[in-house]
Amino acid sequence: MKFRVYLRALEIDDYQTSYMWRNDQEIQEMVGGSKFFVSRENERQWVLNNTKNTERIVLAICLVENDKYIGNVNIQNIDWINRTASVPIFIGDKNEWGKGYAAEARMLALKFAFEERNLNRIEDLVLESNIPSIKLHERCGYKREGVLRNSIYKSGKYHNQIVMGLLREEFEEAYASYISRFDK
Ligand SMILES: CC(C)(COP(=O)(O)OP(=O)(O)OC[C@H]1O[C@@H](n2cnc3c(N)ncnc32)[C@H](O)[C@@H]1OP(=O)(O)O)[C@@H](O)C(=O)NCCC(=O)NCCS
Repeated sequence: MKFRVYLRALEIDDYQTSYMWRNDQEIQEMVGGSKFFVSRENERQWVLNNTKNTERIVLAICLVENDKYIGNVNIQNIDWINRTASVPIFIGDKNEWGKGYAAEARMLALKFAFEERNLNRIEDLVLESNIPSIKLHERCGYKREGVLRNSIYKSGKYHNQIVMGLLREEFEEAYASYISRFDK
């Protein structure tokens, strides 16, 4: 299988693109974090800090065909004793939604997390209303482990979050099946 996306380290100038994504209302509605306003300077500082941060791995998602930067995927909240982390993702360029790029990028990030950082479990919280994200997690082998009722307040009401958990062996199985779809 040939991946159509690749991951690279974030570069300082990426903030000029990502600050627009941070302010996108539709994207903010889909993620668990609170709504906020982000200035260019704020985003520049965030990118700058993260290029030097060795505990949180922030990666740019780019298209192989033209190197276009389309989103971010992180490996964060790393617990080196229990070997757990979370892997949040967004495709900021909405023209690129629904093409399978998030699944590819998440697979690549998870492969790195398990095979290069020797992690054993990934846990992500997803808004119950974010169906594309739940499907994306399931495609990568995650299991629904529970519901955090009314755990997020935004847009004037409380929302449930689903706990999505992935063990290393579940990823290996999902990855093999994902790859085989493309090899046929
Ligand atoms: C969620 C998000 C990452 C999905 O990115 P994407 O590149 O469009 O996703 P993919 O094309 O790889 O599709 C992933 C799965 O979602 C499904 N999907 C995609 N768009 C969908 C939609 N609008 N409705 C229902 N399912 C959808 C796909 O069919 C696929 O499922 P499958 O593998 O079972 O076929 C993207 O919409 C995004 O960045 N949203 C804003 C941030 C966000 O929600 N991040 C996740 C927070 S937990």
